[in-house]
Amino acid sequence: MSGRKPGRKARRKSKRPSSAALARPITQSPAQGGHPGAGRTPGQLPELLCGRYKIERLLGVGGMGAVYRARDLLREVHGEPAAHVALKTLSSEFAEHPDANSLLHSEFSLTSRLHHPNIVRACHFDLDPASQQAFFTLELLKGSTLDQLLDAYPSGLPWVQAREIALPLIDALIHAHAHDVLHGDIKPGNILLCEQGPILFDFGLAQLDESARAGLPQLNRQRFTALTPRYAAPELHQHAPLTAASETFAVACVLFELSCGRHPLGNRDTPERLADLRPLARLPRRAARCLGAALDSQPQKRPSLEELSDAFRKSSRKVGLGGLFRHWARTRRHDANRS
Ligand SMILES: Nc1ncnc2c1ncn2[C@@H]1O[C@H](COP(=O)(O)OP(=O)(O)OP(=O)(O)O)[C@@H](O)[C@H]1O
Ligand SMILES: [Mg+2]
Repeated sequence: MSGRKPGRKARRKSKRPSSAALARPITQSPAQGGHPGAGRTPGQLPELLCGRYKIERLLGVGGMGAVYRARDLLREVHGEPAAHVALKTLSSEFAEHPDANSLLHSEFSLTSRLHHPNIVRACHFDLDPASQQAFFTLELLKGSTLDQLLDAYPSGLPWVQAREIALPLIDALIHAHAHDVLHGDIKPGNILLCEQGPILFDFGLAQLDESARAGLPQLNRQRFTALTPRYAAPELHQHAPLTAASETFAVACVLFELSCGRHPLGNRDTPERLADLRPLARLPRRAARCLGAALDSQPQKRPSLEELSDAFRKSSRKVGLGGLFRHWARTRRHDANRS
């Protein structure tokens, strides 16, 4: 590898692998590669599923499956206005896995538990009898992922706008946790910025909180235990179970990136060293302090999501008026010097 750092866009691309690229046993280091999703194309899908969903086009391919835009012919017959859906399937490779359909259903079921304006809505799970292809449908979202937004704003968003994304996003996560759902893969590529605000989607690696899991049959997640290293809290790299605190770390990485235009780990893939918090200086002090704490390597030192939200919410007026005041004071000094 040459000593030159790749350009920002290239770096973003190379450093933002989908969990796709990382759908690997957690014990395998990224350097070991050999992930099952690599170089995969979506499997062949019939044009019509269950006689109801007519596939129109591919919307995106992730680590384990593919998402298509489809027409819901049943809704159309009844003249329903939103007759288009997003339809998610597993790739043929993952479909071979013993628990594949159950895992897809788990994603559907966990998404279905959640009813929040900033979380994608799941509609319907089914198995196409002819092709034996399991799939589920979701509300069709229109927008760009935060990944794409970050490419358009390489220095990060102005505070007011970053905060407008942060607050509903944290709120969505608080809602999920209140319903015992841990998302498991919070990253810019799994958040779409739509007209109605940021929408959290892709619960493919989501899990029920440990307390809610008790007594339920456990799925064989071995091949699916994946993480996206750059957003995974340090304890997850040490094989600790997913917790609300690890989600706080992941969302803090996203918010740091949104407001500072760079990832707190720099170009590194794993948090082997402390995050570089210096860019936080451009944020209002209270928000900066809380976001910095949310990136602490020790989960027990991280603030709760409620505290993070509070810090962002309460920082709003101060930055607006503070900035205005500083500008006004500078102008007055300037005028005084002139007279
Ligand atoms: N409800 C939706 N509406 C519109 N597009 C969607 C929707 N859900 C997913 N997509 C598109 O499909 C892509 C892949 O979806 P998703 O992230 O759910 O798949 P995945 O296989 O779990 O991905 P990865 O493992 O890479 O995170 C998204 O990046 C997005 O472009
Ligand atoms: Mg995804």
